[in-house]
Amino acid sequence: METSPQRRPSRGRPAPSAAGASGAGQDESATRKTTPPRKPAGGDGPPPGTPEEPTDRYQIQVRGLNKTFGPQHVLRGVDLDIERGKINIVIGGSGQGKSVLMKHLMGLLKPDSGQILVDGEDIVPMNDLELGKLRRKFGMVFQYAALFDSQNVVENIAFPLIERYHLSREEIMTRVRDLLKRLDLAGVGGIEQKFPAELSGGQRKRVGLARALIDRPKILLYDEPTTGLDPVATNNVDEMILQASRDFGVTSVVISHDMASTFRIADKISMLYDGKILITGTPAELMRSSHAPLREFIDMAGLRRDEDKGAGPEARK
Ligand SMILES: Nc1ncnc2c1ncn2[C@@H]1O[C@H](COP(=O)(O)OP(=O)(O)O)[C@@H](O)[C@H]1O
Ligand SMILES: [Mg+2]
Repeated sequence: METSPQRRPSRGRPAPSAAGASGAGQDESATRKTTPPRKPAGGDGPPPGTPEEPTDRYQIQVRGLNKTFGPQHVLRGVDLDIERGKINIVIGGSGQGKSVLMKHLMGLLKPDSGQILVDGEDIVPMNDLELGKLRRKFGMVFQYAALFDSQNVVENIAFPLIERYHLSREEIMTRVRDLLKRLDLAGVGGIEQKFPAELSGGQRKRVGLARALIDRPKILLYDEPTTGLDPVATNNVDEMILQASRDFGVTSVVISHDMASTFRIADKISMLYDGKILITGTPAELMRSSHAPLREFIDMAGLRRDEDKGAGPEARK
């Protein structure tokens, strides 16, 4: 487990090469491979003295990210490692800057300072053309699915393809149908021609996921996907996130303030607090932590530290 706020200067290690990792090499503009300053070694990272970090472990590395809006200093030196192929969840109270942080990850906002390495490449200095290419690595799943009401399911899902490529209608239909099948939507009678208003809430979410997946992204971003949902719908969204992670091999970044859901599906949880990542760890590690703001957050959600499940005495100090 790693805790903030101390940051370490770079030790001048060679740049971690993402070559060979999935998604790397797809953009020829990858000319700015950069080494982020190394984070303090914690229980989650390699032990001290380990000569090299695995080169392809992290899909995204954020270092020293600062963002102000006028007088408001929202992000105050965020350090965050997003693990490739895992479900990475960022938690934090309302207004802490979670959405602002997520928008930075795909270059929708420019920071005042700091680095955002995606597959080892700093996206902060990128121009619009480079950012356009970068964003093809990302799929975004919106809170309310954000489908176009006047377009049917096929048109909604195909939208990113039509916008980006010149594909034939047959190619598009093949890809859409394949995805509908993989997302268990193919059995919904006549779904291809249905409009969003004719779908159930759960189906709308899945169609939203299909749209996010249609261009085969490496990274899926979800901003508060379960906010305002009842427990059954929340569970369905959790299943959907797990399925996308498992069956499509994407790296998932989920923003959430739903603790039950977070602890159920996360591989790794990071808490944004006061403009920084206060603490990062596995669900079990965070459950044992005694950081006050984290405990407050967890306890408010009605989750309890499970003293009997592997939490050693030293973890409960
Ligand atoms: N484009 C913007 N211009 C000015 N202030 C913004 C902008 N986007 C976000 N903020 C402010 O930044 C803070 C964090 O917002 P946000 O990231 O949306 O919080 P949350 O953690 O709830 O997602 C809020 O106080 C919000 O008002
Ligand atoms: Mg938000």
